[in-house]
Amino acid sequence: MVGQAMRSILEERNFPVAELRLLASERSRGRRFPFRGDEIEVEVLGENSFRGVDLALFSAGKEVSLRYAPLAVEAGAVVVDNSSAFRMEEKVPLVVPEVNPDHAFGHGGIIANPNCSTIQMVVVLKPLHDRSPMRRVVVSTYQSVSGTGKDAVDELHKQSSDVLSGKEPVPRVYPHAIAFNCLPHIDVFLPNGYTREEMKMVEETRKIMGLPELPVSATTVRVPVFVGHSESVNVEFEEAIDPEEARNILREAPGVEVVDDPESNLYPLALHAEGKDPCYVGRIRSDLSCPRALNMWIVSDNLRKGAALNAVQIAELISGI
Ligand SMILES: NC(=O)c1ccc[n+]([C@@H]2O[C@H](COP(=O)([O-])OP(=O)(O)OC[C@H]3O[C@@H](n4cnc5c(N)ncnc54)[C@H](OP(=O)(O)O)[C@@H]3O)[C@@H](O)[C@H]2O)c1
Repeated sequence: MVGQAMRSILEERNFPVAELRLLASERSRGRRFPFRGDEIEVEVLGENSFRGVDLALFSAGKEVSLRYAPLAVEAGAVVVDNSSAFRMEEKVPLVVPEVNPDHAFGHGGIIANPNCSTIQMVVVLKPLHDRSPMRRVVVSTYQSVSGTGKDAVDELHKQSSDVLSGKEPVPRVYPHAIAFNCLPHIDVFLPNGYTREEMKMVEETRKIMGLPELPVSATTVRVPVFVGHSESVNVEFEEAIDPEEARNILREAPGVEVVDDPESNLYPLALHAEGKDPCYVGRIRSDLSCPRALNMWIVSDNLRKGAALNAVQIAELISGI
């Protein structure tokens, strides 16, 4: 899913590519995909795949990145890695170009692309933090199945039609049916009672924002939506920010689009975010239980800003584009 989005984003943004190589596993050998009017045949990833490559965008999971990203660097490529393999390594920058572009330049060959839910949240929080420092963040996510990959998208299609035709849905990718359901379980459970996805949001937010002590509390939930992650975010600041001021700050912020006219039923929606670049924010309101806090609803296309677009933006940044 992410690889396909990367291919179209490189084309849309006219990234200066002399030669594009598409790498996958044995099961994709020989498949052909269009790029700038040509058809490119998929090659099977191997130890020699990176000869002559300047830039390698990885999105084939942690195990593949752990094994092949160092080989790509050895062959002279800069790697932008979408997996969680290197994100928390001290020497590997974790970059969202709208938030911490300067971190990208301290890389030693690998730059990590953060978790999708974290990216869309920090793009919105950073400009508000610049107005008044954040003291605490509480987030609950409503994450689409495309965040798990193509098998999960197929599973939601199949289970939905099974349920509607009176058949029992059979879970394969997730431990329970995802059609007509919500699963408060993304990635594995850790000894502290949180899931790894929840702890990724805590740790990655701190690293990207350069706030190692920031209190962050996350609950991550998989919902039966194909594309687009939604988040309810409560953020407490040192000083209260009026919701109208927050909207004005966010209207000027890079990568953010404010959709906040509840009277007209206008607020960010996963269905509207699909295929688009911005992080949409709306439902901005004061927290009635805590005067220094705001509540908001943030939505973005997890395959684009949450993964492929952010990776291509990092590539543009380090290439001086
Ligand atoms: N989906 C998201 O929203 C999202 C967001 C942020 C980060 N990510 C990360 O991006 C990565 C991919 O996610 P996805 O959603 O694109 O998954 P996906 O749809 O399942 O695609 C996985 C890709 O990896 C390739 N692959 C798997 N094993 C391989 C191997 N041993 N050698 C070479 N290629 C291999 C697959 O090729 P074949 O089809 O040929 O096997 C396929 O192209 C994951 O690390 C994920 O955590 C995803």
